[in-house]
Amino acid sequence: METTLIILKPDAVQRGLMGRIISRFEDKGLQVVGGKFMKISQELASEHYKDHVERPFYASLVNFMTSSPVLVLALRGNGAIAVCRSMMGATFGSQAASGTIRGDFGVSNSFNLIHGSDSPESAGRELKLFFTEGEVLQWDRASEGWIYDLSSGTAE
Ligand code: RTP
Ligand code: MG
Repeated sequence: METTLIILKPDAVQRGLMGRIISRFEDKGLQVVGGKFMKISQELASEHYKDHVERPFYASLVNFMTSSPVLVLALRGNGAIAVCRSMMGATFGSQAASGTIRGDFGVSNSFNLIHGSDSPESAGRELKLFFTEGEVLQWDRASEGWIYDLSSGTAE
């Protein structure tokens, strides 16, 4: 089981797409284990995207991410990091495949609706940036035994 960090970016919130995007993850079987509606500070946005500090789009990216509230989610599931990245689609809305979140809801290359951790290392780092330990919950989901085969003792 993995936990990944997802951010519904300012454009997703402003366009009223939060519910539809969360539904896709719930429909897939991912479990929401953390959630926070917040305005990201300059410091936090800079830290979160620090790997891109030398890139030409860094300043406008930080500006975008701090321009309006976001919804931050922690999602848990088998292979959650790769599953969420594939559901998000390619970075640019103009290139993202139909059927993906970016492909279905946007055409912009900058306002691309959603962030998702791209590796276990990023997920660990990013979850710590946005959530304290007690804010990511371990909770029993009533549907778990129908989302996974639990007969072997592990979720298959
Ligand atoms: P994210 O980190 O937000 O999940 O997106 P990503 O992995 O698909 O793409 P990444 O390369 O990490 O870029 C981070 C964000 O920067 C903006 N971007 N703009 N104008 C450009 O060339 C450009 N390239 C990237 C996007 O908002 C992208 O999500
Ligand atoms: Mg990225």
